[in-house]
Amino acid sequence: MDFESNDFQAFVSSRRSTRDFLPTPVPDEIIEGIIADGLTSPSWSNTRPIRVAVAKGDVRDRLSKEFLSRWEGIKGAREGIFGKIKAVVKRKGLPTSNWIITRPYHKDLIERTKNQGRDFFSHIGVDREDKKARDESWARNYDFFGAPVELFIFTHRSLGKYSASDAGLFMQNLILSAHSRGLGTCPQGAVAVWEDAVRKEFEISKNYSLLCGICLGYPSGEKINSFEANRPKPSEIIFPEKY
Ligand SMILES: Cc1cc2nc3c(=O)[nH]c(=O)nc-3n(C[C@H](O)[C@H](O)[C@H](O)COP(=O)(O)O)c2cc1C
Repeated sequence: MDFESNDFQAFVSSRRSTRDFLPTPVPDEIIEGIIADGLTSPSWSNTRPIRVAVAKGDVRDRLSKEFLSRWEGIKGAREGIFGKIKAVVKRKGLPTSNWIITRPYHKDLIERTKNQGRDFFSHIGVDREDKKARDESWARNYDFFGAPVELFIFTHRSLGKYSASDAGLFMQNLILSAHSRGLGTCPQGAVAVWEDAVRKEFEISKNYSLLCGICLGYPSGEKINSFEANRPKPSEIIFPEKY
């Protein structure tokens, strides 16, 4: 990492999502340490409406296998009407949660996601028209990009967007804590589409729902990890004054 430990701006801007990991295991004390750092975040009335399911070892491998097999089903569903019928008949593949991922982006947001896709695929040398290569790249989400640990973040249903806000604050502290220890992370909405599979592996109260995953591990030296996503300028997100 290229920053002075007392230089917050350089530290925070040096974090990037990691999408290729070494198989090196992450010790339990480190996982617990970064979760503890995550919990230094502010929280709505200090209620901490978040829970984490830590998937590692056999649980991680079983979930990855299940996700990859369901992803094959989704691929079918995206391949025209016959694929959809096949997927429905097989009842496998289609999302069981986080349907938002299947919907088109709002026109306010579509340009940013399109630019992200263009820049990302160009960085990893994938032609945007090459659907097979794009699918293969997306499928890596379901192997958690090779990370030995996947954290599944759940939020309490009762506080709605404030639970999600608490989770976001928690996740960012956790992610920065990992970064400070030389670990890489990538938040993953992709793994929130099959909440039922995660519930099969952990004791999870029905009052909580799955927000997203975060893969965690030691980054490899692969080119994909040097991708630098565009960051907007403050002026792009500040509302203008009316008068
Ligand atoms: C809630 C959330 C879900 C995300 N889901 C995915 C995902 O499923 N797969 C992926 O490769 N990246 C995912 N990302 C990572 C974003 O693409 C990434 O944060 C963004 O492009 C900015 O890049 P940076 O994190 O390197 O700064 C997700 C990020 C967030 C906050």
